[in-house]
Amino acid sequence: MNQENNIVTRLGLCQRIEQLPQVDIGHYPTPLEPCPRLSEALGGPRIYIKREDCSGVAFGGNKIRQLTFTIGEAIHQNADTIVHGATTQSNHCRQAAAVAAQLGLKCYLRLSRDHKSLVQGNLLLDHLAGADVELVDAPFGPELDLVKYALADKLRSDGLRPYVIAAPQSTALAAVAFSWCIAEIHKQQQEMGIEADLIYAGSAGGTQAGLILGSKALGMKLQPVGVAPIYWEDKIDRIRQAANNAAKLLNLDFQIADDEISNTDAYIGQAYGVLTPECIQALKIVAQMEGIFLDPVYTSKAFAGLIDHIRKGKISSDQTVIFLHTGGTPALFAYNQELTDVPI
Ligand SMILES: Cc1ncc(COP(=O)(O)O)c(C=O)c1O
Repeated sequence: MNQENNIVTRLGLCQRIEQLPQVDIGHYPTPLEPCPRLSEALGGPRIYIKREDCSGVAFGGNKIRQLTFTIGEAIHQNADTIVHGATTQSNHCRQAAAVAAQLGLKCYLRLSRDHKSLVQGNLLLDHLAGADVELVDAPFGPELDLVKYALADKLRSDGLRPYVIAAPQSTALAAVAFSWCIAEIHKQQQEMGIEADLIYAGSAGGTQAGLILGSKALGMKLQPVGVAPIYWEDKIDRIRQAANNAAKLLNLDFQIADDEISNTDAYIGQAYGVLTPECIQALKIVAQMEGIFLDPVYTSKAFAGLIDHIRKGKISSDQTVIFLHTGGTPALFAYNQELTDVPI
């Protein structure tokens, strides 16, 4: 394995990560599984799936790794209450509610009312985990952040010690988390005797930032490719800033530049959370070839991108690709109608 370009060793990266406040909540390392039937069905590269959907808490997902550090920071600051918010089918909020329950913290979720406001999937799990859930009319983004901060002020005046999960700190800590995921992959690759060329992830934020940071820090051949689930005009800025803020938190003396970030908007379709025929097809192929369920909002669109790149010859059959399964599967149950509308 080529280690000539590494900036730190794997042990060195892990030691820097260990310096940050964290809670031990997930089941790590998550498996890195070969998918021979899927590789054959797509007539292409060797495909492995990194199973962040098996990260152990509350149906798993990429946010458990991220919450390891955000909730770690909350506890370090002596918080007793978590305040979070996003869309109604937010995986992040569901995982935050479950982790808060596990650690005996109170959890308040303020969710933007949208086309998936029925009590199903993630929203159902938020309630079951005992979170204080309220649907609000502020759109996801800066306006919803204001709602979260106003609530935190009120809780503080009631004598609680709230910690608000919000960008940019949460995104930087996601990048720390996924540099740790890369260290895990680095070790797994050594043990399995493989060296992947590419890692695909459904991300337009901290997750991809961490993949880029980690693979650069360790001098790996592995090139991260992000497939965005949402249109953000400032997407590249967000990813670069998250990676560089994480580099600072880890005392890594290098920066990520824009031309090191590969991220496509080509598989979003009409909008965030609106299914495309290609994502439904991708979801069914992976389920039917490997018995692995993708989610309707992130991983199925990312996998549709991977399939398209294979079909267009951007990835050759002698290459090795890791697909990062970032979880999100509870949302399947909120999309039952759309998922059964399109036969394949
Ligand atoms: C299942 C799933 N995959 C991917 C992502 C994207 O993560 P990031 O915001 O770090 O890009 C999310 C974020 O909510 C998610 O829930």
